[in-house]
Amino acid sequence: MLDTARCLLAPSARSDVPPFMVMDVMAAAARIEAAGGHVIHMEVGQPAAPAPRTAIAAAKAALDKADIGYTQALGIPALRARISRHYAETHGVTVEPERIVVTTGSSAAFILAFLSLFEPGDRVAVACPGYPPYRHILTALGCEPVLIPISEATRWSITIDALLAAHRRAPLKGVLVASPANPTGTMMRAAEITALIAAANREGIRFISDEIYHGLDYAFPAETAAKFSDDAVIINSFSKYFCMTGWRIGWMVAPDALVRPIERLQQNLAISVPTLSQIAAAAAFDGRDEMEAVKHGYEENRRILVEGLPQAGLTRFLPVDGAFYLYADVSHFTDDSFDFTKRMLEEAGVAATPGIDFDPLDGRHFVRFCYAGSSADMREAVSRIGRWLHR
Ligand SMILES: Cc1ncc(COP(=O)(O)O)c(C=O)c1O
Repeated sequence: MLDTARCLLAPSARSDVPPFMVMDVMAAAARIEAAGGHVIHMEVGQPAAPAPRTAIAAAKAALDKADIGYTQALGIPALRARISRHYAETHGVTVEPERIVVTTGSSAAFILAFLSLFEPGDRVAVACPGYPPYRHILTALGCEPVLIPISEATRWSITIDALLAAHRRAPLKGVLVASPANPTGTMMRAAEITALIAAANREGIRFISDEIYHGLDYAFPAETAAKFSDDAVIINSFSKYFCMTGWRIGWMVAPDALVRPIERLQQNLAISVPTLSQIAAAAAFDGRDEMEAVKHGYEENRRILVEGLPQAGLTRFLPVDGAFYLYADVSHFTDDSFDFTKRMLEEAGVAATPGIDFDPLDGRHFVRFCYAGSSADMREAVSRIGRWLHR
C-alpha cells in the first residue's frame, strides 16, 4: 500500500534535471533589493530594451481585430515568408518558406529538433561550457549529451579532432554548435563552420546550429549554417536581437525530409505557436533600425567592460566576439565561482552568473557577465568590482 502511494507520488527519473543556478542569484539579488540595496544586474541573459515598436503596433492592431485563433502548425505564411526573405537579405542565401517552422521560442525548437532527429540513447555532442538546457533537454528526452571540452587552444569552439575523438569512443548521432555562443560570447568563422559540417556529414552526424545570437556580432559577421548545408537544422529566435524574450517566439530551418515529421510533432505537442506573437514577429523585421540602435548600446557596453575590467582586476576573459556575454576566468581569485558571485553580489552589489551553471567540468573557475543593460550600469559595475577586488 505504502509502495503504491510512493509510486503515485514519485516523479519520473527523466524529470530529474538540474536547476538553473542563475535563478538562485536572481533570488538573492531580489532579497538585497527588497531590503533597499541597489544591484547591478548582469546575471540574466535578457535585453533591457523592449520589442521593436513595429512589433508592438502590429500586436495591438491584431488585438483590436480580436481574431486570435489557432494558426497552421508550421506558422502563419506571412511570418514564414518574412523569415525566408531575411535569409536572402542578410545572408544572400535562398531558404524556401516551406522549410521554415515557427516555434515557441528557440526552446521549443530544440525539443522538435531532438525528437525529429534522434532516438532514445543517441549520443549528441555539445560544447562545454555551453547553454545548460541543451544537455538537460537531451537528457529529459532520453538522449545522451556528450560534453566536448572547449578551451583557448580551440578558440572556444568544437574542433573536428575533438568531434571525431568523441565519435570514436562511441558513435555520435548529432552535434550542436552555437555562434555567437552562450556563455562564452565567442564565435566561429565561416571556414570553421563549413569544415565541421563537412566532417559531421562524412560521419553521418546530424548538425544543429543554434543561431539565437545572430545579429549581435561585433568581432566579425556571423554566418548561418544554412549557407553551407541543406541538411543542417538551424535554430533561431526573436528573443535576443529583437528583444522579444517574453513573446516566446522563434523558428527553425529544417531539411526538407524533416518538415512533415516536425509538423506532426508540433500539431500534437502545441497545436500552434501563440498567434499574437507570430503577428508581432513578422512586423519585428521592420524595426531593424531601432534594434540596430540597441545593438550599438551593447557595443558601447562591451567597450566599457573590455577596457574597464582589466583595470578593475579581472584581466582574463575570452574573446568578446558576440551575443552580450563576457566570460571571465577568475581562477586567480577562487576555486569556487558560486561563492565568488555570491560575495560579489553581497559585498559589491553586482550580480553575475557562476560558470558552474554552464560547465560542470571547469565552471568553478569562470563567471559570466551579461552586458545587455545600460552603459551607466556597466560603468558602475566596473567601478564597484574594482573597489571590491582592491579592498
Ligand atoms: C544559447 C541559447 N539558446 C537558446 C536560448 C533560448 O531562448 P528562447 O527560448 O527565448 O528563444 C537561450 C536563452 O538564453 C540561449 O542563450
